[in-house]
Amino acid sequence: MYHLKSRTPMGQLNSFRKDPLAFLERGLDTGEDVVRFRLANKRVTLIMDPDLIKQVLVVKEDAFQRFKPYKELAPLLGQGLLLSEKPLHKQQRKIVQPSFTPRHILTYGEEMRRKTIDSLRGWGKKEKRLLSDDFMSLTLEIIASTMFGADVLDGKEQVGRSLEEAMELITKRVRSFFKAPKFIKTKENQQFQKAIDTLDEVIMKIILNRKKTGNRSNDLLDTLLYSQDSEGHRMSDRQLRDEVMTIFLAGHETTATALTWTMYLLLTHPESYLKLQAEVDELCREEVPTMEEIKEMTFMRDVFLESMRLYPPAWLINRMPIENIQVGDVGLRTGETIMISPYLMHRHPAYFDNPEKFIPARFKQGKLLNVPDFVYFPFGGGSRICVGKHFAMTESMILLGALIKNFHFTLSDIEYIPEKFPLVTLRMKDGLLVHSERRF
Ligand code: HEM
Repeated sequence: MYHLKSRTPMGQLNSFRKDPLAFLERGLDTGEDVVRFRLANKRVTLIMDPDLIKQVLVVKEDAFQRFKPYKELAPLLGQGLLLSEKPLHKQQRKIVQPSFTPRHILTYGEEMRRKTIDSLRGWGKKEKRLLSDDFMSLTLEIIASTMFGADVLDGKEQVGRSLEEAMELITKRVRSFFKAPKFIKTKENQQFQKAIDTLDEVIMKIILNRKKTGNRSNDLLDTLLYSQDSEGHRMSDRQLRDEVMTIFLAGHETTATALTWTMYLLLTHPESYLKLQAEVDELCREEVPTMEEIKEMTFMRDVFLESMRLYPPAWLINRMPIENIQVGDVGLRTGETIMISPYLMHRHPAYFDNPEKFIPARFKQGKLLNVPDFVYFPFGGGSRICVGKHFAMTESMILLGALIKNFHFTLSDIEYIPEKFPLVTLRMKDGLLVHSERRF
């Protein structure tokens, strides 16, 4: 174990806040499996050994909760799946999970294709596009229609903007030491409340519309509305709102971010771009690949997996021990912060040759060979593993296949070097501006 020492009362807080990825990389550079440091008065243990990570996320997961500062997300996500703790989490996960079976994903896949076709038909013959925004808005539309049978077209910009604003303000609060309590009407607190109010309004409209019509459907909203606990009680409106908001947020930004980085990597690796285009041209017979076709597109899957190795949307996973606990030979204390970073592990020199290089061929049949569990884990692990993993993979394959099939892209500025912007997800700071041109 390595101790990053600091003499100031703030510990490493300033360095972490200024550039969290560069700070974490210093941890990796120590060559140790575990690095301990202080963020202000908080003890932090950064774990970089796959077996210890497995202990925390899987084997001894009952001894851990989510990290306290995630509570800053509470006004947005409430007690939805992402933030709830046992026993509520277990109960809600049991309700939500069955909406993500392969049978459901098959139905969602058809809707994803329809939305993609509609959206791409509106694109011009030759134009400049901010692809990162296109991905955000398309994934938002897809999540709304597949999960909640809702068309958010009207309020799409508003929902997207409000979610973005809320997330930025939350990240600012998580990273700052002094923060005004929520009840004080600072400009930021007011902005935050306004964003939440806008989102609440859209979500309550979706829920009330469905309740009013009484229409049954094969989607998540139906499951949430009609599930009952062992005593026959339905979910409260508040819980419904929290679950819907959580899926809205967790279900679109992550995928959009992953797709943005994937396109950037393709545009800067022409040999991979051409190879992917050849695969898509050979296998995709219609405007947008079918569910059967995406199964055959193995190079496309490897490209996407390799892109999430370099730029995992969930770049940091935090936990907090609820009791003093030993993992391996490391003693962890109640209430301290445990950091586990897919971003670091995915670039760990002990497991990857040329870790910084984009090499889709590292993956064979969608797997990394000779790499232990929890070296590559873009979707997390244990009982809190991403519930939308297969949804995200399917959606990404459909969108990527459709773009490559119908358009030719080049970077708007061929020298563009994007800046990583680690909010809750690993965004691209100024987005991805491209020239797009129809191929047919
Ligand atoms: C490329 C896209 C995605 C990535 C990389 C991703 C990654 C993750 C990760 C790492 C976690 C675990 C966090 C932790 O353990 O603290 C997680 C949880 C979660 N994800 Fe995803 N996700 C993606 C897409 C989606 C989609 C499309 C949905 C919904 C349709 C979704 C819904 C959720 C939910 C609800 C949780 C919380 C699960 C729980 O705590 O039980 N995610 N995701």
